[in-house]
Amino acid sequence: MKDRKILLKKGHVVSFLSKIDKKRDILISNGEITDISENMKIKEDYEVIDVSGKFVIPALFDIHTHLRTPGREDKETFLSGAKAALKGGFTRICCMPNTDPPIDNAGLIRFIIEQSKKDDIVDILPIGAITKKREGKELAEMYDMKLSGAVGFSDDGFPVMNSGVMRRALEYAGMLGLPIITHSEDMGLSKGGHMNEGYISTILGIKGIPKEAEASMISRDIELSKMTGGHLHIAHVSCKESVDLVREAKKEGVNVTCETCPHYFSLTDEAVLGFNTNAKVNPPLRNKEDVEAIIEGLCDGTIDVIASDHAPHAIQEKEMEFDKAPFGMIGLELSLSLTITKLVKPGILNWGKLIQLMSVNPAKVVNQPVYDISKGSQANLVVVDIKEWISNKESFYSLSYNTPFLNKSLLGVVDYVFSKGRLLLNNGEITAE
Ligand code: DOR
Ligand code: ZN
Repeated sequence: MKDRKILLKKGHVVSFLSKIDKKRDILISNGEITDISENMKIKEDYEVIDVSGKFVIPALFDIHTHLRTPGREDKETFLSGAKAALKGGFTRICCMPNTDPPIDNAGLIRFIIEQSKKDDIVDILPIGAITKKREGKELAEMYDMKLSGAVGFSDDGFPVMNSGVMRRALEYAGMLGLPIITHSEDMGLSKGGHMNEGYISTILGIKGIPKEAEASMISRDIELSKMTGGHLHIAHVSCKESVDLVREAKKEGVNVTCETCPHYFSLTDEAVLGFNTNAKVNPPLRNKEDVEAIIEGLCDGTIDVIASDHAPHAIQEKEMEFDKAPFGMIGLELSLSLTITKLVKPGILNWGKLIQLMSVNPAKVVNQPVYDISKGSQANLVVVDIKEWISNKESFYSLSYNTPFLNKSLLGVVDYVFSKGRLLLNNGEITAE
């Protein structure tokens, strides 16, 4: 192999573990970080990349992505999803099993791992279904799926309504040392609803989904986690009541973690006005007090992770009447920018906290190694320029562009990504193929 030395010059390096938060040069020799220091001397054989004014942070990890493969490759494939992830600063993603057929057996787990390795752009770690066909009735082959490489279990898109099934799921997953990732929704309360229940749903005449549909299931699952000791990870927390429940459970020492998504700290249900189907998501966008509570939960450590819940949908499906359109919005290429725009730039979160929420804690939730920027470690890092960009249909690698953030001005463009020592995004262009 040719000797390759890349010098990242004058970036602001932030690393959570090694506690760097300074302007530093980083030398990457054949994929390994061999030096981090000030004003490094340039040698003849160095490829120098000027990253002055930009931030250099550990590579991000998204534990909640929908890749639509198998079944709806028109919406997303492993390749398009991997490219979107890379452009969003993620080098590892977990894909959800609500595909067609659903990922509820070891063969399909192997299919995902083998197929996605062919592209070799980002690491795709599959989440297996909790129940067979995601029907909520019978537990899927959790042990076999773990042996094949599943890193957690979820029926995401649907809750596990039967408490007895959920109890067993937490018991088995607990024995396997893997998290149960819940889509917390009491269907008895939410059925037929298409947006948050409240003033806006009333004036639009759309049936609502109350916050209690989420909070009551979280409350049940916290009890079941206490009972079984299993690791409960609550997906896409959207409202104040849920944050309060998790905060209390953590104080009690319950084995619970949770995530929120950028849309829950960026928007309220007012985004649905005009019957905007791109703002239709499940759980739905809530109110101002919920946005505030989510932000508080992120700041005080109640919420462990910011995940994208990247949910691509076809334009012809989203261009339907509001009640016929599917739930979901894309997020891989927007999550980092939204977090910077809404939380870091206004001074609500610092970079260290962003790294914790988007890189360190996601890895911990699914028991994967934490990436750090330190001498002697493999280069797994991202260079972000805090400049403005305007998202539009053409700006996405994702095959879909269903998002309420289209044509919005955002801050934060990913310029370079190193993944497992390889420079895969170079000056904004994907170099792996
Ligand atoms: O909005 C959503 N979209 N929520 C889910 O739980 C599922 C997801 C999807 O798969 O489209
Ligand atoms: Zn989801």
